Amino acid sequence: NLRLLRTTQELRQWRVQHLLNSKSVGFVPTMGALHQGHLKLVEQSLKHSDSTIVSIFVNPAQFAPHEDLDTYPRTLDQDIKQLQRISNDITLFTPQVSQMYPSGIEQDTSRQVGAFVHLPGLGNKMEGLSRPHFFAGVATVVTKLFNIVQPDHAYFGQKDIQQALILRRMCKDLLVQYPTTDNLRIVPTARDPDTNLALSSRNAYLSEQQRSELAPLLYKALQSGRQAYEDGKRSREEILHATSSYTTQAQEKGARIDYMQLNDAFTFDVVDEVGAEGAVLSAAMYVGSTRLIDNVLLGMR
Ligand code: PAJ
Repeated sequence: NLRLLRTTQELRQWRVQHLLNSKSVGFVPTMGALHQGHLKLVEQSLKHSDSTIVSIFVNPAQFAPHEDLDTYPRTLDQDIKQLQRISNDITLFTPQVSQMYPSGIEQDTSRQVGAFVHLPGLGNKMEGLSRPHFFAGVATVVTKLFNIVQPDHAYFGQKDIQQALILRRMCKDLLVQYPTTDNLRIVPTARDPDTNLALSSRNAYLSEQQRSELAPLLYKALQSGRQAYEDGKRSREEILHATSSYTTQAQEKGARIDYMQLNDAFTFDVVDEVGAEGAVLSAAMYVGSTRLIDNVLLGMR
């Protein structure tokens, strides 16, 4: 049955055993409230590694003071059941904040006494414009998790494309060995089969009507942008224009568009024209106080 590890000491012992037995380890870091998107990552890991470990840790360092740390859905019992339903050979790691942050958490860099990982050049663009502390919080916690889990493979979702690309860059630049840059895998976004809404733990905050009618307009807008690209449009202006009928509809129904933007996948700079290396079309939208994000890749891979 599912093995539950609650401390870093237990986790390190578990890891050493795998090393001694030459068993490969696949890792899926999460903040819980698991849904089909998370489970897709777990399935990939089960397929490619001898042993799969999932972490559930709601990481305070990646939430700004006004964000939803306190109300973030915590559903451990259900999460365990969902994992058991797909395999009884999964290890679950649920560390405490005090173990993960022995020197405490301070987001203001001028007051930080502990060690934190920053990628300012990438972390301050795109999502980082709206959430300035977010990617330092993510890069820091994932570094800590990689250091104790030492995964052969790690799995991240395309839904959070900037997060996955930043973590890949981090592995490359910090010469991370477990996982190597190539073994940090990006899995396509899982969507609700009826509406194509990207699955997200935060969808739990939406009313039925918001979920079925309003939220799906975000992906519709992105798809229109991708269609324009496929029809041969290359300029930012034309591609963003193609998204506007759906973003306008969403606004008319009460949503607030945070951004819709076209960025280079390597520098995250805004691009005027999509070139041979492609681009990321991404968007964030508020439905009430719930912030939803989604993206499509244009001409990449
Ligand atoms: P969380 O939002 O729980 O997501 C965990 C992983 O699941 C991330 O890699 C995310 O991209 C992926 N994911 C979420 N929704 C998905 C979907 N619809 N399709 C495919 N993958 C999806 O992202 C985090 O947690 C945290 O920032 C974390 C990396 C755990 C660091 O705290």
